[in-house]
Amino acid sequence: MIRRLTPLFLLAVIVAPASAAELLDEQTGLIIDSGWEIVRVHCGGCHSHKIITSQRADRQTWLDIIRWMQATQNLWQLDPATEAGILDYLAKNYPPQAKRRRAPIPPSLMPLPLEDRRSQ
Ligand code: HEC
Repeated sequence: MIRRLTPLFLLAVIVAPASAAELLDEQTGLIIDSGWEIVRVHCGGCHSHKIITSQRADRQTWLDIIRWMQATQNLWQLDPATEAGILDYLAKNYPPQAKRRRAPIPPSLMPLPLEDRRSQ
């Protein structure tokens, strides 16, 4: 029984991480998921796609970024369907990260202020 299961188990270990990983487009670094080509076409003309892949934001903030570029950086008007496709893709694939920082250190673990250390 064990002998019959081992190859299957090994296969699962080898295959599982690969299927869980996101597929990235080699040229742009964009996550390949529905809508990624609209983003490739509309969002790489003025700056690297890396400026996008290094950003995390919710849908509203992505929209604010687009509006900001339209107001100040000559980004063209996007038709509503295109804009919705871009926002769907960005909000799904580049959402806010839950925890980018460690929790604050509790006061009891912080060093004493310098004055208090001198008097000890
Ligand atoms: C017409 C030119 C143009 C196009 C097209 C364009 N951008 Fe930008 N974008 C800019 C400029 C200019 C900046 C500022 C770059 C800098 O600060 O170096 C910028 C900055 C950004 C930033 C960084 C914002 C920040 O807070 O620092 C993000 C994210 C971004 N763009 C996403 C996108 C997305 C998504 C698209 C596609 C909808 C897009 N851009 C298309 C011109 C453009």
